[in-house]
Amino acid sequence: MTDDPRVRRLLPAPTATLTLPEAFAFPEAVSKWVRAVFVASVDGAATISGRAGGLGNDTDKALFALNRALADVILVGAGTARIEDYGPAEDDPQWRHLREGRGPTAPMAVVSRALDLDVSAPLFTEAPDHARTIVITCADAPADARNRIAQVAEVVVAGQSSVDLPAAIDALVSRGLSRIVCEGGPRLFTDLLRSCGVDELSLTRAPTLIAGEGTRILHGDEFDPPIDLSLASLYSTDDGYLYLLYRRES
Ligand SMILES: NC(=O)c1ccc[n+]([C@@H]2O[C@H](COP(=O)([O-])OP(=O)(O)OC[C@H]3O[C@@H](n4cnc5c(N)ncnc54)[C@H](OP(=O)(O)O)[C@@H]3O)[C@@H](O)[C@H]2O)c1
Repeated sequence: MTDDPRVRRLLPAPTATLTLPEAFAFPEAVSKWVRAVFVASVDGAATISGRAGGLGNDTDKALFALNRALADVILVGAGTARIEDYGPAEDDPQWRHLREGRGPTAPMAVVSRALDLDVSAPLFTEAPDHARTIVITCADAPADARNRIAQVAEVVVAGQSSVDLPAAIDALVSRGLSRIVCEGGPRLFTDLLRSCGVDELSLTRAPTLIAGEGTRILHGDEFDPPIDLSLASLYSTDDGYLYLLYRRES
């Protein structure tokens, strides 16, 4: 991985290269900010052979780590946590300076109704005390699984038959976790957009064609009407990757 990954801004005004923290800083003085983070191919595939990892270049991997360092909490759907073998966020020396005044890493917050989560997995057993994993579920979730998970994680109940995402976000903010980085996946991102929305989408576009039946960054019924976004900024690297920051049209 490059020591000092940089990107070239193409929009709104072309610049010489910028460091990733210069390009992707969170806005200041907001009481809550939800940034969704995805990578996809030119034809919209969000996975290669079922996983996202193969799509990103070194800059995207650094951006992923940067977003984790900027976050107060990392929100993820249980599907992604299961498929991508999630563990706790790692203390990253490259971005450690960005966490001054906070713990060295942000906690994971996993959204799940089924609670089919392995309590002996690193996500729970290796989470440090300053960043215990949070599991966000709903009242109708299986009680036995909920009790098991409560031994190894903080459990937040929001909603009755499925997770009420606006209430879940409020619960995180009330714990002082107001910079929320959502790493997907597609089902959670769709539910978020349908309920409370996100403030920003950080999308890396890999110069690759995949085809196949892999998921896109959204999964679910078509939005009616479609959700319009505005392109806040666009960056590139010499290998043809594009890095887009979208905000919701206000
Ligand atoms: N390209 C990328 O940037 C990227 C990013 C992330 C993921 N991915 C890929 O996406 C795939 C996973 O997709 P996915 O859509 O299944 O993952 P997901 O959105 O991470 O997980 C879906 C699961 O999250 C829980 N969930 C989501 N919304 C909920 C709600 N409102 N209430 C209760 N539970 C809720 C449910 O868990 P339970 O089943 O436990 O109830 C649901 O089955 C993987 O292949 C992964 O590699 C790609």
